[in-house]
Amino acid sequence: MANSSILDEFKTTHLAEEKIDTNRKLKVGIIGTGWIADAHMQSYLKQPDVEIVAYADLIPGKAEAFMKKWKQEGRVYMSGDELIDNEPDIDAVSVCTYNCQHAEPTIYALKHGVNVLLEKPMCVTLDEAIEIRKAEKESGKVLSIGFQPRFDENMKMIKRIVESGTLGKIYYIQTGGGRRRGIPTPFGTSFIAKDTGGIGALGDIGCYSLDMVLNAIGYPKPLTVTGYKSAYFGTNPKYMPCKEYAEAFGVDDFAAGFVRLEGDIVLDFRIAWAMHLDTPGDTIIMGTEGSLRIPSTDCWNGSVGGAMTIYHDLCGTQTQTTVPILHTGADLFDLKIRSFLDAVKFGKPAPVPSSQIIYNQAILDGICRSAELGHEIEIEIPEI
Ligand SMILES: NC(=O)c1ccc[n+]([C@@H]2O[C@H](COP(=O)([O-])OP(=O)(O)OC[C@H]3O[C@@H](n4cnc5c(N)ncnc54)[C@H](O)[C@@H]3O)[C@@H](O)[C@H]2O)c1
Repeated sequence: MANSSILDEFKTTHLAEEKIDTNRKLKVGIIGTGWIADAHMQSYLKQPDVEIVAYADLIPGKAEAFMKKWKQEGRVYMSGDELIDNEPDIDAVSVCTYNCQHAEPTIYALKHGVNVLLEKPMCVTLDEAIEIRKAEKESGKVLSIGFQPRFDENMKMIKRIVESGTLGKIYYIQTGGGRRRGIPTPFGTSFIAKDTGGIGALGDIGCYSLDMVLNAIGYPKPLTVTGYKSAYFGTNPKYMPCKEYAEAFGVDDFAAGFVRLEGDIVLDFRIAWAMHLDTPGDTIIMGTEGSLRIPSTDCWNGSVGGAMTIYHDLCGTQTQTTVPILHTGADLFDLKIRSFLDAVKFGKPAPVPSSQIIYNQAILDGICRSAELGHEIEIEIPEI
């Protein structure tokens, strides 16, 4: 059978429509009605077993305007906590707030027995991630983190290749990427201020590159990090839409890290919102039996950048195998929302569990701490 038909067969078996039971509807609230809340809304409205009953935003009138824009009815509140306090029957919330407001409403919701779909990055610091994990564990509720590229077939292929043993034992990974010019302004000004974004390119796009490779290799624990971060573009009015944005810029626009992972694996990572370069390189996963090259990819947009290549020996000859791109047409955001709802409804495990993403957060946090201290640091994560 030709390669393409094997892949097509896979596509159809894995994307078979599941019948959704509408007898039990889930009551959902949206906390934070900014830019990404639109994507949540769009996907929730496609689900026949969901009622969006409440909306919250700190900015007066914003939640109401959002609700009206989507031609919905419901109750509006001025904060996530207020929504949770006043909606005792709610099943779940999407936390769509900026990074510095990820931990607080998530912990509050979990402590009140509400399931949470939390946007990425998990939060800003490792300490916050630990507190989120504790609240989740005590609540027994579902907490899933919003990494929609997880549901992409090409991303799944990376994991399948690693798990198949084709690459042997993995020992070195290079990942990351970025944009020549791509600081998210003016639509995303909450991304660039320290008190809202908290972290910059690291939390916006870096966490995706890390998730792509760490998920593929089973999320080994990070042990040490040597980190670097800078803000030479964001703070320079020459590269910003106006002087005020450059003055408001309080996060990283470039970061790099060298991370030791459990199992004798090292990870070499770099991410840029802006640089004088087309790309800082491909993602490569090197193993004792083969290596995988994933062409430089904007993986935060959901998929890999092009056909991947496996380098391996075949009957003693150095050879290369091309892994063609899979085009499924699936809406990754719909899959992210549906998988979360199914976990809530049927008591399934979280589709993107915090037990993994806490390691992603530990690396982001480790890069920031190491950069500030100017030397390698050890990562310590208590058993939760
Ligand atoms: N998954 C994706 O593809 C994707 C894409 C873009 C952004 N994001 C993530 O989504 C998050 C939000 O990004 P955005 O672009 O929508 O930001 P935004 O600034 O447009 O919206 C955030 C909103 O949250 C509100 N808010 C903050 N704290 C609140 C609280 N405690 N209670 C109620 N409302 C609160 C703010 O007032 C604001 O309106 C970020 O963490 C970002 O990383 C994910």
